[in-house]
Amino acid sequence: MRIAVIGAGRVGSTLGTRWSAAGHDVLYGVRTPEDPKYRGLEVETVGDAIEGADVVLLAVPWRAARDAIAELGDLGDRIVIDATNPLTPDNRDHDRHPELSGAEQIAGWLEGGRVVKAFNTTGSGNMANPGYPDGTPAMLIAGDDREAKRVVLGLAAELGFDAIDAGALAAARDLEHLATIWIRLAYGLGHGPDIAFSLLRR
Ligand SMILES: NC(=O)c1ccc[n+]([C@@H]2O[C@H](COP(=O)([O-])OP(=O)(O)OC[C@H]3O[C@@H](n4cnc5c(N)ncnc54)[C@H](OP(=O)(O)O)[C@@H]3O)[C@@H](O)[C@H]2O)c1
Repeated sequence: MRIAVIGAGRVGSTLGTRWSAAGHDVLYGVRTPEDPKYRGLEVETVGDAIEGADVVLLAVPWRAARDAIAELGDLGDRIVIDATNPLTPDNRDHDRHPELSGAEQIAGWLEGGRVVKAFNTTGSGNMANPGYPDGTPAMLIAGDDREAKRVVLGLAAELGFDAIDAGALAAARDLEHLATIWIRLAYGLGHGPDIAFSLLRR
């Protein structure tokens, strides 16, 4: 599968590296492809990176999402994975919208694209290594397009997550709040980033 990763930061480079290792064709879309900090990664401008991509991962800070989206153009039926959380640097609480999740706002800003919320409810360290001795971290996924969700569930499972369909895109409201709880536990209440949510079954 050809995956365009928009934003080569912690989330983008971690997921991109792992999908690459799993055999996917990964291209990164960045603002300054000539920057030596990207040495070793296949970088392009955002517009060029999405050419021929089946899946686009949006992994930029919330405040940059709208600018990055403006570079994407018409996405047709490409799958867009929204890994962002509507957080601001000075406030780790949500940049609250009275009704809509960040993912629903992003879906409204995009031209085309089938949006799936995923990879927002756990830290990038868990994306690099989801191995835990007592279980498998859950990756909750929300979206309105059944086929797009099937693909993203597969991409999460390939990385070692227990990939779970959490419902329609409106469920991203819940997933974004779950991210806030993970951040609070990890960084506010002293548990550190080596924690993950898991779904127990019997
Ligand atoms: N870190 C985590 O553990 C984690 C977990 C789940 C979800 N998230 C969410 O994932 C998103 C990315 O987080 P992160 O921690 O990976 O951030 P990060 O390490 O700060 O990386 C963000 C990347 O986005 C790039 N960027 C900024 N504006 C851009 C634009 N207009 N076009 C293209 N690229 C642009 C930056 O590139 P430049 O070098 O050009 O600035 C940077 O490489 C955020 O929304 C965050 O809330 C993070």
